[in-house]
Amino acid sequence: MPNIILLGPPGAGKGTQAKRLVEERGMVQLSTGDMLREARASGTEMGRRVSDVMDKGGLVTDDIVIDLIAEKMGQGGSNGYIFDGFPRTLPQADALQTMLAKLDQRLDAVVEMQVDDAALVSRITGRYTCRDCGAVYHDVTHPTKEKGVCDVCQGTTLNRRADDNEESLKTRLMEYYKKTSPLIGYYYAKGKLRSVDGLADVDTVAAAIAKVLDKG
Ligand code: AP5
Repeated sequence: MPNIILLGPPGAGKGTQAKRLVEERGMVQLSTGDMLREARASGTEMGRRVSDVMDKGGLVTDDIVIDLIAEKMGQGGSNGYIFDGFPRTLPQADALQTMLAKLDQRLDAVVEMQVDDAALVSRITGRYTCRDCGAVYHDVTHPTKEKGVCDVCQGTTLNRRADDNEESLKTRLMEYYKKTSPLIGYYYAKGKLRSVDGLADVDTVAAAIAKVLDKG
């Protein structure tokens, strides 16, 4: 029952790979980005509070995302959790360790997806997702087979995120380097860090992650 973190900047491919692991291994994806977007879409008070920060590319406060993860952990996850976009700060990483310990579980690996900033602009500005099932597409590298129709669920509402523009991406990258990249050293020191080339094609990245999961 491996529990892993997918760590990488916006557009590194965390969501794409997490969805494959859900399909192929029955793991549970815990994406704080998806949870926050759901809260926004359903118009909760918290969703309204985080909306502006998210659109501009800033990080929402630690207590909000820690509560979101705490709520989901312990519900299912018998084939392991994939933490996608969480933790993003050192206090979040400490909170995750405490939450896992309470459930008598441990973190098996932190997969750092290495990409360079130049590739991220085209990945982010070309991305769209299916509103109904969350499948992730790209204008150039992974378009839907039939224009406007999701390959997975045949839904016809394909959305682009409000923060998927060059301006927000600049802020998201700065936030990543300032607040999230220290986690690379944090997990290296704990012997958990495994790095993969996130610039490779989706299947090659998936194979590299599978190797980490199977060998530890
Ligand atoms: P979140 O939703 O987590 O966004 P992110 O980390 O910026 O990551 P993305 O979803 O943009 O990218 P991804 O790595 O999943 O890439 P994807 O697979 O889609 O967070 C959004 C916001 O919520 C944050 O800015 C913040 O405000 C808030 N938030 C969330 N978590 C938080 C936390 N813990 N603390 C505080 N605030 C938090 O791929 C991107 C594109 O590239 C797709 O089109 C895909 O088809 C394509 N692609 C993927 N892999 C490849 C490949 N190997 N080759 C070619 N193309 C590829």
